[in-house]
Amino acid sequence: MKVVIPAAGLGRRFLPATKSMPKEMLPVVDRPVIHYVVEEAVQAGATDLVIVTGRGKRAVEDYFDHNPDLGNVGEAPELEDLEALTRKVSIFYIRQRMPRGLADAIHCAKHFVANEPFGVLLGDTINVCTPPLLRQLHDRFVALGGKHSIISVETVPDEKVSDYGIVKGREIQPGVFEVEDMVEKPSLENAPSRLGITGAYFLTPGIFPIIEGLPPDSRGEVQLTTALNILAKKEKVYAVTFEGKRYDIGDRGIWLRTNIEFALKHPVLRTAVKDACRELGP
Ligand code: G1P
Repeated sequence: MKVVIPAAGLGRRFLPATKSMPKEMLPVVDRPVIHYVVEEAVQAGATDLVIVTGRGKRAVEDYFDHNPDLGNVGEAPELEDLEALTRKVSIFYIRQRMPRGLADAIHCAKHFVANEPFGVLLGDTINVCTPPLLRQLHDRFVALGGKHSIISVETVPDEKVSDYGIVKGREIQPGVFEVEDMVEKPSLENAPSRLGITGAYFLTPGIFPIIEGLPPDSRGEVQLTTALNILAKKEKVYAVTFEGKRYDIGDRGIWLRTNIEFALKHPVLRTAVKDACRELGP
């Protein structure tokens, strides 16, 4: 399976931290977000990954490279997991020349994915799911005929509706919606439902010519949601709910909370974090 990881976004929600540092490198406990994303892709069966980067994102490439200053794994055992991960997959990089939106970033990978269906995982979102979320989407893709794009959705609270793409769909089986319409970051009044797009996709290559035909919006961005809306009218697109939990690390509050949640599961840090929560709590 080929997987595209868009990691070119500006991280506006996390400024000033992300002014000179990729949001994909924000640490969650002791690993950057992108580590979890690549790990998920590999666990889902990815053989080849392309990370779409951009200006100011070189730290992402350096992260998956060998660092001669740190010596080999024997000298830095903390790097063992990372080394093992990079041995399991081929990672390629493409630079998006300027931030022109999620659809444009995915389009940068057109030649890489060639004419096959492919997975997309956002570089700033961790999914903790069994089976891995992309595997769940792939399995749905196969079960629903192997011809239609699949996007993951979850019910979002009212105050988060305007942060996400929102789907209007007809539930054809439990947790599977045939997409009728999609609105990118609507106001609460204009939201057609509370089903928010979580940022994992299994797409057909039919998306590429659609992206090519789309003009940028008022912010100069080409939105994936707009392209998917057109795709849904040509081929069916299904939105599916999933087993597991998604962490949108580009959001400061969620990033902080995720660090605490993950640290509470960490064998070494657990006690210190529990103590801190007890001491600092109300
Ligand atoms: C993107 C998509 C949006 C989706 C979101 C998930 O928005 O455009 O539809 O709900 O990812 O995180 P972004 O977060 O890049 O603004």
